[in-house]
Amino acid sequence: MNYRHAFHAGNFADLVKHACLLQLLARLRAEPTPLAIIDTHAGRGLYDLAGEEARKSGEADAGVVRLMGAADAPDAFAPLVQAVGALNRGGGVRRYPGSPRLIADALRPGDSYLACELRPEEHGALKTLLKDAPGVRTACADGYAAALAETPRRGRALLVIDPPFERADDYAQCVATLAQARRRNPALQALVWLPLKDLETFDAFLRDLEDAVEAPLLAAETRMRPLHDPMKMNGCALVLLDPPAGLTPVLEAICGWTAGSLGEGGEARVYALAA
Ligand SMILES: C[S@@+](CC[C@H](N)C(=O)[O-])C[C@H]1O[C@@H](n2cnc3c(N)ncnc32)[C@H](O)[C@@H]1O
Repeated sequence: MNYRHAFHAGNFADLVKHACLLQLLARLRAEPTPLAIIDTHAGRGLYDLAGEEARKSGEADAGVVRLMGAADAPDAFAPLVQAVGALNRGGGVRRYPGSPRLIADALRPGDSYLACELRPEEHGALKTLLKDAPGVRTACADGYAAALAETPRRGRALLVIDPPFERADDYAQCVATLAQARRRNPALQALVWLPLKDLETFDAFLRDLEDAVEAPLLAAETRMRPLHDPMKMNGCALVLLDPPAGLTPVLEAICGWTAGSLGEGGEARVYALAA
């Protein structure tokens, strides 16, 4: 396990994921019934962009730093811009929130959040960050196994799956976890993040997911450049399982601005797959 998210925090892929996550949570919060959220790959929850890893990669400079200085970012980014601004009241962009910080801050009384992180030092930082957050538990555990064990059998539930994809079986594990968790709770909704290297891998994932899960699916591709070199991360994709209505134009705005303004010859596609 070599992946360290500190190198990538605040990059274009985080912007897409976190802007969409906040838009999704806002819609889910509009329903009064409690929501149980399980995050399979949580990370440490808060990142120091002045730290060695972020400075070495420069990915945040090409991502969140540009977003925070952009005059033309669409309204769909406003919740993320506000969350980043709140962490950096002194000016500049030094601190960047991970999904756990954003999710914990969005919980209402009665909601719950389980954040799983396998790496002990990342989990230690996460646990400290969220120690006083109501409704929150963290686990230093495999997120796929935890999702299967902890998805409630009834009531509203959201699974957030954001693996590093450094293991060949991450695609298959995502599909199997979604299929089994949705069988356990037919009301389950989900947000999955994936890298876009070549289209064949992503298309194969979508086909496997369609075969395994009977639910409406919405896919959002952010291609940062033409997908010529499969060795590079050329973009990212989000797949939403049984999403709330009205998300398509919001995803188009987020993915479209990211690909167009931060990419090189980039483009975005948002499309529904048949249930
Ligand atoms: C892409 S990062 C997560 C970023 C986080 N979701 C966010 O948006 O702020 C993936 C994380 O998953 C952790 N990880 C890797 N394999 C895991 C597993 N099987 N279960 C739980 N966490 C895992 C890694 O240590 C890493 O911190």
